[in-house]
Amino acid sequence: MKGVILVGGSGSRLDPLTRVANKHLLPIYDKPMVYYPIQALVNAGITDIMLVTGGNNAGDFLRLLGNGSEFGLKRLHYTYQDRPAGIAHALGLTRDFAEGDSLLLMLGDNIIEGNLVAARQNFEAQDQGARVMLTRVENPSSYGVVEIEDGRIQTITEKPARPKSNLVQTGIYFYDERVFEIVANLRPSGRGELEITDVNNYYLQEGNLEYDILEGFWADCGESFEMYLESQTLVAEHGANKLDT
Ligand code: DAU
Repeated sequence: MKGVILVGGSGSRLDPLTRVANKHLLPIYDKPMVYYPIQALVNAGITDIMLVTGGNNAGDFLRLLGNGSEFGLKRLHYTYQDRPAGIAHALGLTRDFAEGDSLLLMLGDNIIEGNLVAARQNFEAQDQGARVMLTRVENPSSYGVVEIEDGRIQTITEKPARPKSNLVQTGIYFYDERVFEIVANLRPSGRGELEITDVNNYYLQEGNLEYDILEGFWADCGESFEMYLESQTLVAEHGANKLDT
């Protein structure tokens, strides 16, 4: 299985912190933000990883991470997104790297307390399709909101004004090798981006979208200054990427 981590985008919700620095290089307690998703993938047994950089100071990732030896990796792959055209657009840039294999996509501003070992096993037990990691939040309208009935996902709606539940998709997604074909056929949304929610809705309509609910805390550090601060407190008090959660 290949791993893809997105560290592009504009980071506008954390301006002016992100006016010069790339958001994913900002400190989260004692490490740069990007360390957390890399460790999450490594903990799930994924050692073939591509980082999609973009935005400010993309070269700094190379200086910070090099070949990923700090994480026990032989090498890290990099590509560059020249404009923030959406999460699915960034994923599409990894086609040459990941096509023909299944993949785990994680957004570079997401941090988890636990690990993705069981989720990976559950995904591998699926014949095909996609698997999204979900969690409950207090402000669902900032995220992709998921409605579940009889144990099955019914709808996923990106940032709805009136959310139907407090269950949301995190930035952690498993895909089968067909995902690049699906991305290639997407149209930009109203905000001009290729949306990951549209990819997930494609699998949903096929009847091939499964889910797990994350154990432990989940933080989207880029959502607001409050979440940026809270994520640091969570990491300091509970620790992140634990193998026993
Ligand atoms: O964090 C979970 C949420 O992530 C989901 O609940 C939403 O359904 C999903 O759309 C996404 O929403 P965000 O508003 O948090 O996405 P954002 O634009 O902040 O981008 C998330 C990450 O992806 C961030 O680390 C930067 C990176 N990114 C984003 C875009 C738009 C890129 O690398 N390239 C891009 O073009």
